[in-house]
Amino acid sequence: MKIKTIMLLVLISAIGISGCADYNGSEEDAMADDELDAQVSEPDAAAIFSKITDVDGYKEWSIWPGNESLEEGTGVHGEYVTVYVSDNAISSAESGGEMLPYETMVVKEGFNADEELTGIYLMYKIEDYDPGNNDWFWAAYSPDGSVNAEGRVDGCINCHYDVNAADYVFYNA
Ligand code: HEC
Repeated sequence: MKIKTIMLLVLISAIGISGCADYNGSEEDAMADDELDAQVSEPDAAAIFSKITDVDGYKEWSIWPGNESLEEGTGVHGEYVTVYVSDNAISSAESGGEMLPYETMVVKEGFNADEELTGIYLMYKIEDYDPGNNDWFWAAYSPDGSVNAEGRVDGCINCHYDVNAADYVFYNA
């Protein structure tokens, strides 16, 4: 009788321990998912700048179809502008007026009247980032890469809303 009781106790505590381990395990998984969500919903403009200047340099992408470098701008982002688009969006950009695919990046360089680079502007389309405004992440940089604005920037969105039918991209209108 006594041995059976001891064995039963051992069995119960073993179940208890493994149950506990399971619980801890799933809690860690949940934390990892939260961290992932935070990354998806809040991209980091500085990290993106490194990526598009070092790893996948935007200057290797195409200039927006039908345009050239140093086009005359409206003055909002510079006297002259050059607009680049990531490879995944080329066919949509060629058609014009279409919604651009997720992961599209549109990068614009602004230049002053002396053709000196004064700023770099980014639109980056991330699924579920900002569903009310076509899911664009916005960022404005100085030429050295320092971040002047980033996120769901009202100033950018309000003006680009003029061309919301062209997915908020003036060059796509
Ligand atoms: C007052 C209006 C206005 C505001 C504010 C504005 N933009 Fe623009 N943006 C334009 C116009 C107009 C163009 C078209 C090219 C040109 O003339 O510069 C443009 C072009 C662009 C482009 C190239 C793709 C396209 O739409 O043709 C990017 C990228 C861009 N803007 C990013 C931004 C970001 C990021 C912000 C906020 C930090 C911003 N813009 C704020 C008016 C605006």
